[in-house]
Amino acid sequence: MQNRIRVAGVFFASLALAVAAHPAAAQAGPPGHGHEPFPKPTNLKVLPKNISPDDLKKIMHGFAGSLGVKCGFCHEMNPQTHKLDFASDAKPEKRTARTMMLMSRDINEKFISQIHDPDAKPEDKHVTCGTCHRGHKMPPVFVIPPEHHGPPGAEQHAGE
Ligand code: HEC
Ligand code: HEC
Repeated sequence: MQNRIRVAGVFFASLALAVAAHPAAAQAGPPGHGHEPFPKPTNLKVLPKNISPDDLKKIMHGFAGSLGVKCGFCHEMNPQTHKLDFASDAKPEKRTARTMMLMSRDINEKFISQIHDPDAKPEDKHVTCGTCHRGHKMPPVFVIPPEHHGPPGAEQHAGE
């Protein structure tokens, strides 16, 4: 139990950093929900069940900003009320996001925590959603530039 709480804390810290790195996300409110109070969560399976509405809101805005999407990308629209049913697990994207949360937690807890790099700033010490997604639903494929294999001038010295 003790360990679970600690893990949640570390995970939360890394999510909070994701939010800090995406201040623009905080402005993109849920459509039609701008001034309504954040509903009390009833179906949290990864985040701590007693999370404060404020922290939950920051994390959700962080998700949206990190993937460049709105809340409805993961949350199902109720066809009658035309409001998002946040507790529903109907959308596969929400279920994928849960797996991604667990994956990010594992990467940070099991692997990044083993790296003791004195140059790393606190914000370098965590993988966040944005580390991979960079504002895209699917992480953009990185293509190595064909002619640049090192710092400028490196090629000149390669044969020496
Ligand atoms: C990338 C997917 C994703 C995006 C985008 C997203 N959410 Fe979520 N949301 C989730 C997941 C996953 C959970 C469940 C977390 C858990 O199980 O601990 C959740 C849970 C919630 C809950 C709690 C529901 C309950 O009753 O348990 C609320 C409220 C919520 N989100 C609001 C929002 C709002 C508002 C936005 C837009 C600013 C948003 N979400 C954007 C994935 C997302
Ligand atoms: C280590 C890199 C990495 C991190 C960190 C990461 N993702 Fe992903 N994510 C991926 C990859 C790769 C895919 C594509 C997987 C596939 O389609 O098989 C993906 C796919 C997704 C999808 C499905 C997108 C779609 O179009 O259906 C969602 C939703 C998602 N990630 C949410 C998140 C959230 C939320 C976080 C942070 C809690 C996160 N991801 C962190 C690599 C990452």
